[in-house]
Amino acid sequence: MTSFGLFSAALLLVLQAPMLAFAYDPSPLQDFCVAVKDPKFAVFVNGKLCKDPNLVKAEDFMFQGLNIAGTTANKQGSNVTLVNVERLGGLNTLGISLARLDYAPNGLNPPHIHPRATEILVVLEGTLLVGFVTSNPNKLFTKALNKGDVFVFPIGLIHFQLNVGHGPALAFAGLSSQNPGVITIANAVFGSVPPISNAVLTKAFQVDDTVIRALQHQFGA
Ligand SMILES: *[C@@H]1O[C@H](CO)[C@@H](O)[C@H](O)[C@H]1NC(C)=O
Repeated sequence: MTSFGLFSAALLLVLQAPMLAFAYDPSPLQDFCVAVKDPKFAVFVNGKLCKDPNLVKAEDFMFQGLNIAGTTANKQGSNVTLVNVERLGGLNTLGISLARLDYAPNGLNPPHIHPRATEILVVLEGTLLVGFVTSNPNKLFTKALNKGDVFVFPIGLIHFQLNVGHGPALAFAGLSSQNPGVITIANAVFGSVPPISNAVLTKAFQVDDTVIRALQHQFGA
């Protein structure tokens, strides 16, 4: 084949290939990163400085205690024990973390978002009703999960788990960030400090002031 022939064959291949795009926003490792001029006031973009490799020990890659259930004696009846870079320094820059989730009967891990991570959850005990809602349109994907079942919650989407079994439930989850972050919807909206103006919340939720104040009272604002 002539070089022109080769070129046209290659061009044809490219043109016939399905549209491929390799693009992704940079993945922030913290809520924000305000630019500063003086390095004296700077921290690393990766969130953490790195330990001198000569001083690194096996213990830096180890966390102990995920055999222990978190206490579920709280309003929601659930507890998330998160092993992120704060608790396991070896995770730094590796884009992964782990959580143990305990649920009392009827316990709920309330609707929340991980702004920086996709979550893959496996049920070890009990039955969980789980779900997530897509951004636009707001479509709910939901499923009841039993022991051994796995479910994935895509990055940034509102999701929840409710224990619908008879006894306690246990799950573990992997998250695709060393610092997934968590925004619990009700707490963020009705429990922020300082509180969001009632003019905003009454209009947004189309309810009167007493409802908003009751919700704010419930979530600590
Ligand atoms: C989760 O469990 C831990 C360990 O028992 C406990 O210290 C923490 O207060 C619990 N969190 C909630 C929200 O109950």
